[in-house]
Amino acid sequence: MIYEPREDSYLLEKEVRLLAKGLHVLDMGAASGIQAEAALDAGAERVLCVDIQEDVVVYLKKKGLNAIKSDLFSNVQGRFDLICFNPPYLPFDKREDKYSEVITSGGEKGDELLVIFLGEVGNYLEKEGIVLIVLSSLTPRARILNVLKEKDFAWKVVAKKKVFMEKLEVWRIREKI
Ligand SMILES: C[S@@+](CC[C@H](N)C(=O)[O-])C[C@H]1O[C@@H](n2cnc3c(N)ncnc32)[C@H](O)[C@@H]1O
Repeated sequence: MIYEPREDSYLLEKEVRLLAKGLHVLDMGAASGIQAEAALDAGAERVLCVDIQEDVVVYLKKKGLNAIKSDLFSNVQGRFDLICFNPPYLPFDKREDKYSEVITSGGEKGDELLVIFLGEVGNYLEKEGIVLIVLSSLTPRARILNVLKEKDFAWKVVAKKKVFMEKLEVWRIREKI
């Protein structure tokens, strides 16, 4: 199932456009490719799209984007200046089918996938590389903040938007220098 761009996609896209020029970019959970296309449009040097869904990878390749199938970083090689991820960040909802679950549910509580991603992302970042992630007010923060602390990352909220009952945020994360 390909996630059609929504408010969260557009909020992240703005930040990607501001940073991507000249950079080697990884678009994690690329789906429609909105972040990858924004990065290329803004002058990124190279962009790699990653998604866990085979049909998404086929779709992105048809669009002419460089894409691989990977569960987070399992098939990713190399280092990147900018890694962006608009992840599934909502708590598991048992009414969902397995197709919508993979694009919306970040695990039982909603933070599990992001916690794994943040635990691994430092191994794929160039020195002074930047990570952009999207979070919702429905995503628990404690374990995310713990992993950022453990990995010695500095973070800052760079964009916010209220969408119905939910508040969306984009966080910019980098290793402390
Ligand atoms: C909310 S959509 C975001 C799509 C797009 N980047 C955007 O901003 O509109 C999340 C995407 O992450 C992908 N995804 C979910 N779990 C993943 C995992 N473990 N590894 C890689 N991609 C994953 C889903 O297939 C889905 O395409």
